Amino acid sequence: MSFTLPSLPYAYDALEPHIDAKTMEIHHTKHHQAYVTNLNNALAGTEAEGKSLDELMRSVDKYPVAVRNNGGGHWNHSLFWTQLSGNAKLAPSGKLNDAIVAKWGSLDAFKDVFNKAAVGRFGSGWAWLCVSADGQLDVCSTANQDNPLMPGVGCSGTPLIGLDVWGTCLLSVISKSKGRLYCSLLECA
Ligand SMILES: [Fe+2]
Repeated sequence: MSFTLPSLPYAYDALEPHIDAKTMEIHHTKHHQAYVTNLNNALAGTEAEGKSLDELMRSVDKYPVAVRNNGGGHWNHSLFWTQLSGNAKLAPSGKLNDAIVAKWGSLDAFKDVFNKAAVGRFGSGWAWLCVSADGQLDVCSTANQDNPLMPGVGCSGTPLIGLDVWGTCLLSVISKSKGRLYCSLLECA
């Protein structure tokens, strides 16, 4: 079965004024759709056709680079959309909040570390908050459409938050201040 573009769990204008509707629509229907289409084309007729996206990511070195770039783009954006909301609560709670405070001392200190990972990623890439198999949190970043499921990217674990660093260039409303977007994502996540 081929991969399909997931629907957004909100309207394109739901994130205004932080992210305008046109930016959301282009990012979703053009950019994300292109990753899905190109991934399906790269897999068509190969032994990898029918494998799950997680499976492809975890053994991505076995496949052509088109699987890495487009499969990563599909995986990463599928997570990205679900993190955003027009009316989310402003801070984590429960176990996640406890783990953040235990690791970094405070939510603000974590935001600072995360923002630095995002701003420090040159060119396109992603900043991540990951949890390891033994429950440890970590912040890291990856290049292009790589993600922490892929081996050898210098960053491993299950992503809890992924920020599209390149996507920030699309944001007509808040593109003047990259730092503000990073804070905005964390406050809305
Ligand atoms: Fe993107």
